[in-house]
Amino acid sequence: MTEIGTQTPDGSHSAGTAPRPVRIFQFSDLHLYADPDGRLLGQNTRQTFESVVRLAQSHAWPPDALVLTGDLIHDQQAEGYHYLRCRLEQLGVPFFCLPGNHDRVDLLAGYTDSGAISGFRVEPIGIWDLALLDSTIPFNEGGHLETMVLADLDQYALVHPRRNLLIFLHHHPEPVGSRWIDSMQVDNGSDLMSLVAAHPNIFGVVCGHVHQAHEAHLGERNWMSTPSTCIQFLPYSESFALDQLTPGYRWFELYPDGRIKTAVRRTHTYPDPLLPSVGGY
Ligand SMILES: [Fe+2]
Repeated sequence: MTEIGTQTPDGSHSAGTAPRPVRIFQFSDLHLYADPDGRLLGQNTRQTFESVVRLAQSHAWPPDALVLTGDLIHDQQAEGYHYLRCRLEQLGVPFFCLPGNHDRVDLLAGYTDSGAISGFRVEPIGIWDLALLDSTIPFNEGGHLETMVLADLDQYALVHPRRNLLIFLHHHPEPVGSRWIDSMQVDNGSDLMSLVAAHPNIFGVVCGHVHQAHEAHLGERNWMSTPSTCIQFLPYSESFALDQLTPGYRWFELYPDGRIKTAVRRTHTYPDPLLPSVGGY
């Protein structure tokens, strides 16, 4: 089961002899630039990212791993990927990166995380497996899961019934109720959700892309999205619109029995004022 919106973990676990949960922090949609002064809709995305990192470091730091779910570098320059690699290494926490529609997979794999070139990969932490799926389509903003990716996931879940799986990908697998961004979801997301429903050892699906926190049930399982570390999209808007909510990240506590505790944590303010009205990004 998934318990969404639970209280902030303080890093201490007093549950007698209960094993310590695996703790994961997710950063998404950084939209960094090669230029340290690069801005997206008025926000210096390196500064907003750093504000989220500082927030994360002030709550139960360090986690067991960081997962970065795509749109990491907005201008697709090698310098941005190199910068991100150096910054993540400074944090001293294992990190795993997925590409988003704004990324160049070759540069992401070449400069930041070599594993990002895989369509499907598994990163084990304790009894949990983080299953990372590449949902990008070259030169396309929308998402798709290749037949082989879904087959690999299906096979892995089948032959590892005693492992707890949590799936990460960039694009959202189901609509969030915003027509413009829902036109860019995983176009075969129902195939993924059917697969999840068929495997009792898959306990959740986590994405980025929508720049907002969204949680939905899938039978006994949940899927959820995570805010961007920079700008936020207004939920349930027919066309592009910015939300006033601040940047953030999502934390997870993953328990041996499959329970997932998770919530979003946001910064108090933006480093710079939000632009009052913009038509897109
Ligand atoms: Fe994004």
